[in-house]
Amino acid sequence: MKVVTCVAPVNIAVIKYWGKRDEELILPINDSISASLSTDIMCAKTTIMASPLFKENKFWLNGKEQTFDSPRLSNCIKAIRARCDGALPQFTWNISICSENNFPTAAGLASSAAGYACLVYALAQLYEIKGEISDIARLGSGSACRSIYGGWVQWHKGDLPTGADSIATQIAPADHWPEMRIIVLVVNDCRKKYSSTSGMKKTTETSTLIQHRAKNVVDQRIKTITKAILNKDFESFAETTMKDSNQMHAICMDTFPPCVYMNDTSHAIVNLVHSYNEYRKGQKVAYTFDAGPNACIYLLQSEVEQFISVVNYVFPQLAGVEYYRGLSLPNKQL
Ligand code: DP6
Repeated sequence: MKVVTCVAPVNIAVIKYWGKRDEELILPINDSISASLSTDIMCAKTTIMASPLFKENKFWLNGKEQTFDSPRLSNCIKAIRARCDGALPQFTWNISICSENNFPTAAGLASSAAGYACLVYALAQLYEIKGEISDIARLGSGSACRSIYGGWVQWHKGDLPTGADSIATQIAPADHWPEMRIIVLVVNDCRKKYSSTSGMKKTTETSTLIQHRAKNVVDQRIKTITKAILNKDFESFAETTMKDSNQMHAICMDTFPPCVYMNDTSHAIVNLVHSYNEYRKGQKVAYTFDAGPNACIYLLQSEVEQFISVVNYVFPQLAGVEYYRGLSLPNKQL
């Protein structure tokens, strides 16, 4: 019997991944950049047991048994096993996977990114695989490839049709910009939304703005924000982050029928951040929104107290400033 337990971080994109050039291999139409949150409070955790005594493969997610045959899970397992030394005894054993997220779904953070990164990382430990695995995590969920690393991470779209060069790399480690904080403002919203997967598929099929983004916008933004991160230039970082979130949601509106993820409260948060920055005479706080109404706020530690008190005053109805953490260290095996 062999048992491994691993944790992996949630990541929040500042240059967004939105749109695939290959649905099956999960290849994006543009590069993206994110920061990984620290794993001490919020993370995905996966335990995998392999035993010659197990009669079949099993998979539990947050305590509920799931099918082992879903295409994304099967693709990850197949790809990992293709890199494994077939002479290892565990190669022939059945496995039992137990995955859980320790953050509430109410936080609206993409659990699939941390979940698949953790699963693939744990499988790599089980089968003693060294080297690149972000391309395998990508097969589970595109954004999962960025959760393989801590700190600031870039997912390179790659050019090869096989996806071998569509991998994540670390731009800077977590301790490079230790003052950076991320706050999630949880906006209660019960309306049913498109998932990221179906939303971006519709976008690729129907939006014309997405072509403009891929051809003329993202490459320059990747350069600008990388420079801002490396130079710890918050003003430039914040402006690029907000513009990119706004463009992703503009493209969602350009999708037919439109994918509306932000609600009135989300837009009120956008206005508040801009008013706050005007009052502070500079870009001191940045918002970014994924496929949902909750706001992820990037800011420096020195700004946290003042900004939170303004939010609490203006939005006493918000479910809360749920999380406020530094950036994460790389994945680890427990
Ligand atoms: C808005 O990685 O969840 O969070 O690859 O279809 O699983 P699939 O999509 P997913 O999309 C994440 C989209 C996003 C932006 C981002 O994280 O870059």
